[in-house]
Amino acid sequence: MILHLSDLHFGTEKLACMAAIRLFCQQHPLECVVVSGDLTQRARYMQFYDCKQFLESLNLPYLVVPGNHDIPLYQVWNRVFSPFTRYKLFFGHMESSLETEHFYILGVNSIRRHYHTRGHISLEQIQKIDQQLMCAPADKTKLIVAHQPFYTPPNDPHGVKDCPMLGRIALESWSHSGLRGLLHGHLHQSAVYDLNQIYHLGAQHPVLDIHAGTATSYRLHRGLPNSFNVIYPNTDVEHYYFNSQLKEFVLKEEIAQ
Ligand SMILES: [Fe+2]
Repeated sequence: MILHLSDLHFGTEKLACMAAIRLFCQQHPLECVVVSGDLTQRARYMQFYDCKQFLESLNLPYLVVPGNHDIPLYQVWNRVFSPFTRYKLFFGHMESSLETEHFYILGVNSIRRHYHTRGHISLEQIQKIDQQLMCAPADKTKLIVAHQPFYTPPNDPHGVKDCPMLGRIALESWSHSGLRGLLHGHLHQSAVYDLNQIYHLGAQHPVLDIHAGTATSYRLHRGLPNSFNVIYPNTDVEHYYFNSQLKEFVLKEEIAQ
């Protein structure tokens, strides 16, 4: 099983949530941790440092991708000419992969300085990921991690303006190469949608869009508690919410909508 964290936003982190996540990792048979972007609040050196220290303290393999908060906002020179310098200093390559006993996981960098909030997937990324998915071990559950969701419901105020450019084209391709799910953050709320049904992709299996809330930050969406997801090899998803009285994350089950 995977622990899916997102939107840690170091710089606005809650120590109680961090302690509860460490405890959760000690008490559950996790294969790895995935973080779907927004590691920091303002892409500052110390925020990346603190995030790295926290992830290392979990004592599990982990995969991270950048979010729109992980490139500088106010330092215009850095933002234009070297937006990922600090990210790469701490986390290396922006599109790493991770293979565990049950999962094959690919990170996709959807962050562009021109599409800061919305994000973008390039044709080169679509082809490269497609090849990797087709060459992946057949017995493993294939997942992709990217910061922005590929779907938001019609009544959501974010709408498609927060879904990456070319995301739909990517889905058409990847869903036929064995992709079972996409892990996202960005909206700071938990949800699961079957994109195979919603977009009529024609795949022989569900392709889940799995949204995670903010696991550690004070930047809560509409008063929702801090949260994270646990994902099983059969793509069952569990949402856990932080209980401030118990100081631990508590399970709330939810099925695909
Ligand atoms: Fe965020």
